[in-house]
Amino acid sequence: MVAGAITARTVIAEPAQTAARWTIPATAAEENNPLPVNAATLAGGKRFYVSKCERCHGPEGKGNGPDADANYAADMDLTNGARAVRNPDGVVFYKIWNGRLTPKMPMFSEELTKEQVWAIVAYAQSLRAQQ
Ligand code: HEC
Repeated sequence: MVAGAITARTVIAEPAQTAARWTIPATAAEENNPLPVNAATLAGGKRFYVSKCERCHGPEGKGNGPDADANYAADMDLTNGARAVRNPDGVVFYKIWNGRLTPKMPMFSEELTKEQVWAIVAYAQSLRAQQ
């Protein structure tokens, strides 16, 4: 006979994608890009940027792609020098890796490798200097 109800509850980790805010580990700012930031890395990063990011962030990273959220144009502007301080490489990595729900940015951990995301980080960070 079964004695009593089963009370154990399974805790299912919430996918990062459903988080309203960014999911960024406390140590993210200390993580450096493991890739050399050279022409080859930037060219690879640009290819992924064009296919995965440009529709929202725009060809120059100004946050003005066709699928951009107009209410968050300033937050989507990757070229804004004033936002550089809060976006070191490791932080940008996790923003891309985990995404966020509101305003919506997709998570890319299921379709890109870490190395691919680091290449995108290098390219995205280079957009400021290209202004
Ligand atoms: C569906 C649209 C969409 C796509 C696709 C998208 N993003 Fe975003 N992204 C956003 C939105 C919206 C924000 C602003 C979130 C906020 O308000 O903090 C954002 C913010 C960011 C930020 C933070 C900027 C800052 O100053 O805080 C970075 C970095 C970023 N995106 C990089 C990327 C990269 C790189 C890609 C491609 C791999 C990408 N995004 C794809 C919508 C998108």
